[in-house]
Amino acid sequence: MGRLEAIRQDFPLIVGRPDLVYLDSAATAQKPAVVLEALQQFYLHTNANVHRGAYALSMRATQAYEDARRSLARLVGAQENEIIFVRNATEALNLVAYAWGLHNLKPGDEILLSEMEHHANLVPWHLIAGQTGAVIKAIPITPDGRLDLDGLDILLTPKVRLVSLVHASNVLGTLNPVAQIAALARDKGALVVVDGAQSAPHLPVRVKELGADFFAFSGHKMGGPTGAGVLWGRYEVLQQLPPFLGGGEMINEVFVDHSTYTKPPQRFEAGTPAIAEAVALGVAAEYLMNIGLERIWEHDRELVQYALTRLDQELPEVCTYGPRTADRGGVIAFTVGGLHAHDVATALEQYGIAVRAGHHCAQPLHRKLGVAATVRASFYLYTTHEEVDRWVEALKKVRDFFKVWL
Ligand SMILES: Cc1ncc(COP(=O)(O)O)c(C=O)c1O
Repeated sequence: MGRLEAIRQDFPLIVGRPDLVYLDSAATAQKPAVVLEALQQFYLHTNANVHRGAYALSMRATQAYEDARRSLARLVGAQENEIIFVRNATEALNLVAYAWGLHNLKPGDEILLSEMEHHANLVPWHLIAGQTGAVIKAIPITPDGRLDLDGLDILLTPKVRLVSLVHASNVLGTLNPVAQIAALARDKGALVVVDGAQSAPHLPVRVKELGADFFAFSGHKMGGPTGAGVLWGRYEVLQQLPPFLGGGEMINEVFVDHSTYTKPPQRFEAGTPAIAEAVALGVAAEYLMNIGLERIWEHDRELVQYALTRLDQELPEVCTYGPRTADRGGVIAFTVGGLHAHDVATALEQYGIAVRAGHHCAQPLHRKLGVAATVRASFYLYTTHEEVDRWVEALKKVRDFFKVWL
């Protein structure tokens, strides 16, 4: 059995559905059996609340939860006390927006985003700008789907207090040079936030080398369960932040009329966390590290180049978006002539191809691309060349069926 076939065997849903070509991993990834088992084992043998009980079962649950924190820290090259468990990347970005933005931004301060952001890295800043009077600006994109850094010097005025950028685009596949931008931004005194929802699952990330202050990602896109994600924050910055949510677990002392708060990361984990999900996410992180993030990234990139070459050569009606160089991730957004993206996706479904159609929570980007919607095929460590072939062949049939409208 080849290496890739062995990996596929780890994913029960994939093994059980030979009829299905799952090309929507950017939305959520399939889960390896070790993750599903970890969830079940937790509830069968370890279930108790964390950080509370003096009894053995609770200590075991706490141990498992903190072990998971260590695994996530290893995944991104962080200290374990810098890993905050949240529900997903969206919550992680909201945490920064509310805990930092709300208290540090004032009228006229600038927040620098980009035109290729996911709504999760736009809407929280809209809310904060609305409350603080801060102004939002965006780094434009080039025609080939990269951040246009030519005007960055001009955009990075002394008024910019925060730069928040996507690491790998969920539409264009672009891997942004966040380390380079972070160095410039921090030089000017701005805080740097990175949306790593599409990078942490796919490539080796070393948060310290990125030079950012915060890095957000979701567990469910990296083989973990839904409901558990991570915000990494530089400890010195986390120490300065007030809590985002209040309640149990995050306090030192509580009086009727006031309270004092514990240190990070617990300061930001109010209430009972998603314990089983966090534990299983730790298992997902270990699973990916065992396979090797470098290899996963290589697989993604190779598959994308293979798919793009086939599309270019065999389907001239297909327009793909994003850079054509080798440093792009496993995501291909495309349109087919003037066909509506939903029609294409629905037609592909007839051939067992699961792709997503729409704006992929990136409306400003689609506006910039001049299309209302795109179809998106996205790959992961279990995606094969044969699946790409099945998709391309199905796309030809869809093209032929709709030919009169092309
Ligand atoms: C680039 C990017 N950022 C943020 C998110 C939000 O992730 P979640 O819905 O898991 O919070 C996504 C999800 O698709 C994404 O692709």
